[in-house]
Amino acid sequence: ELFSGERKNSYGYNIEIDAQWNNFKAMIQPFMATTWQAGPIINGEVLSTNTTPFSIVAPYDHNHIVGQVNFASASHVDLALEHAEKAYPAWRDTPVTDRAQALERLADLLEENYGELMALCHREAGKTLQDGIDEVREAVDFCRYYAVQARLAMSETETLQSFDHSTLEISRQGRGVFVCISPWNFPLAIFLGPIAAALAAGNTVVAKPAEQTSLIAFRAVQLMLEAGIPAGAIQLLTGEGATLGEPLTSDKRVAGVAFTGSTGTAQRINRSLAKRQAGPVPFIAETGGQNAMLIDSTCLPEQVVRDAVRSAFASAGQRCSALRVLFVQQDIADRIIPMLRGAMQESIVGNPEYHQTDIGPVIDRRAQTRLLQHIENMHKNASLIAQTPLPFDSDKGTFVAPSAFEISGIEQLSEEQFGPILHVVRYKASELNSIIDSINASGFGLTLGVHTRNETTANHITHRVRAGNIYINRDQVGAVVGVQPFGGQGLSGTGPKAGGPHYLKRFTREVRKTQPQ
Ligand code: SER
Repeated sequence: ELFSGERKNSYGYNIEIDAQWNNFKAMIQPFMATTWQAGPIINGEVLSTNTTPFSIVAPYDHNHIVGQVNFASASHVDLALEHAEKAYPAWRDTPVTDRAQALERLADLLEENYGELMALCHREAGKTLQDGIDEVREAVDFCRYYAVQARLAMSETETLQSFDHSTLEISRQGRGVFVCISPWNFPLAIFLGPIAAALAAGNTVVAKPAEQTSLIAFRAVQLMLEAGIPAGAIQLLTGEGATLGEPLTSDKRVAGVAFTGSTGTAQRINRSLAKRQAGPVPFIAETGGQNAMLIDSTCLPEQVVRDAVRSAFASAGQRCSALRVLFVQQDIADRIIPMLRGAMQESIVGNPEYHQTDIGPVIDRRAQTRLLQHIENMHKNASLIAQTPLPFDSDKGTFVAPSAFEISGIEQLSEEQFGPILHVVRYKASELNSIIDSINASGFGLTLGVHTRNETTANHITHRVRAGNIYINRDQVGAVVGVQPFGGQGLSGTGPKAGGPHYLKRFTREVRKTQPQ
């Protein structure tokens, strides 16, 4: 019954991985006792605030203080917008090659500060070292990718010739002040990705990161200023959505919003933008998912279990791409489910600093309470398949035991559970189409996993399920910038896909060459 796939962490048998691990540990070591300070950065100045600083504690140990943050107030919102608006014309008129170079310098600086940024991912967001490495890498990739995309999209002028021989030259420029609101689950990569695209396209930015991960956002803005991005072009508002969200998104000076977070918050932002006595502006939203994986009886069970476990539980399930509902064909369920149970019993939950840890904590007490509530409901309304044991000292932080429950169908789930909880549904081969309909009926459409060695089945499923990113015979997390553009549809977001060739253009408007600015 034990999981027979590979385990790269627990036994230390792979010398190469051990050597790398020691190297990563050495990189973060100088920052393991640092206490960072953060606050709003307006026009290059760190402003003091009247509020009591908010203490950030490590999600895996609440006695471990990571830093203090001063939260901005509504008057800082006004100031940030004022400076961003003032700085816009000069930044828009800065040659695109200079803007792109500034982002490439930022990418270099992120790499030079890899150890500190990894330490922040680990200590502030509770990430495992591998997740920290991937996070910094993705942030670097976003900066370099959008620099390239900007050079392509912003320097070309298209000449259109009409039948009467008149010509028109059109090109693209920024739109003005973009508001970028980002989540805590990718506190560096998804903080910087939209900002990099907005800046490369010639917009100025007011950034509002999730309050839980203010420290890493603050460090990133310091590095942006060091990279030569003008102080007026990037404004940072540290603080809570409840205080800053409405004043920001209801302001007439806002020329566009890029948001990543929950579907409910996206809907609120949309309403706030719509109420303004101003023209409609682009709203780019990347939101949640009720992501499914469909496996049929031709699959390779070991591979399915490895990929399902990674998709559901890596990063403690705190990825919008994470697997939430595993659909297992009846004929193979009695092989898969015991293997899944074995893999979950073997997984190790704990402090993400340690080599052997597979799954770290969830971000904070609020997230933990919500997830525990769902687990309690599942105990009443579903049957438990497995629960990974928690470490003896788990109450030091906000851990949730990775859990799998067998349920009757995706309809049983009313909302996304953003954590390490997997739901399993058995289906008969004859029910495949109704399963697909039920996935589509959830209204979400972000990621989908398919495991089958039957090409006709793979084609049938991928043509009928509405999902932004579909993965066949592999896991369904970790889209790669530039080659796997990421984003969904319906309740999962508006597109364009992040890290794809059409993303940056949504931050621009088309202009005639002779048009007044
Ligand atoms: N882009 C991430 C992934 O693919 C999700 O936010 O996992």
